[in-house]
Amino acid sequence: MASKARVRQHRNPFAFRDPVAVPKWGEVFEDLERPMVVDVGSAHGDFLLALAEQQPQTNFVGLEIREAMVDLVRRKAERAGLSNVHLVLCNANFSWAELFPPASLRAVFVNFPDPWFKKRHHKRRVMTDAFIEQVADALEPGGQLHFVSDYADYALSVAEQMLAHPRFSNPAGGTTPAERDPDLPFTHREAWHLEQGDAIHRYRWVLSA
Ligand SMILES: C[S@@+](CC[C@H](N)C(=O)[O-])C[C@H]1O[C@@H](n2cnc3c(N)ncnc32)[C@H](O)[C@@H]1O
Repeated sequence: MASKARVRQHRNPFAFRDPVAVPKWGEVFEDLERPMVVDVGSAHGDFLLALAEQQPQTNFVGLEIREAMVDLVRRKAERAGLSNVHLVLCNANFSWAELFPPASLRAVFVNFPDPWFKKRHHKRRVMTDAFIEQVADALEPGGQLHFVSDYADYALSVAEQMLAHPRFSNPAGGTTPAERDPDLPFTHREAWHLEQGDAIHRYRWVLSA
C-alpha cells in the first residue's frame, strides 16, 4: 500500500541555507513585461494559485522552504494549466537578493508567517529588518507589501518596524490595520482561522515613488 509521506509543519529557516536555483525569469514566464508578484511562504498554494487564475496577466512567484509543498503546488499549477506561476524552493530571507532585481516587483505578500512564539526563536521570523530592506529594494515605486497574521503581538511589532521605515507608508495611517481586500482569495491559514473565529491582523504598506 502506498504510504503518504509526512509533511513537516515547520522548517527552521536557520537550518536551510542551500543555494537557490535562481530561475531565468525570461524563460520561466511568457512575458516579463507583466507585473511580478511574490507570495512568501506559499505552502499549499491556495492563495497563489487562485490569484494566478484571477490575474492571468500577472506573473506570480511562490517562495517556500518546505520541498514537499513546493512539489505539491508545482503539480497543482501544472494540472490547472497555469503558466503564470513559478515556485522556488528557498529560504526567502537568505535568497531574496539573488532572486529579485531592484524595482522588479509589483507586490509582495507575507500571509500568516510562522510566528515562532518563543522569544529565543523570534530571530527565525521572516520579517527581519534586513528582509524588509530587501523587499523595499525589490519593489517598484508604488509597490505594495501585504502582511497578515493571526498573532497580534507579531503583527503589531511588524507594524512598528514598518512605521519606522523611511520608504514605506501605511495608507490606513500609523500602525492602523488595513481592511480585508475582498478581491484577494483566502489563504489556507486564513480560511482555518476564520472558521475558528480568530482575529486576523492585516496590513498593507506602499513603497514611496
Ligand atoms: C504558517 S504557514 C502559512 C502558509 C500560507 N501563507 C497561508 O497563509 O496559508 C507559513 C509558511 O511559510 C513557510 N516559510 C517559513 N519560513 C520561510 C522562509 N524563510 N522562506 C520561505 N518559506 C518559509 C513555511 O514552510 C510555511 O509553509
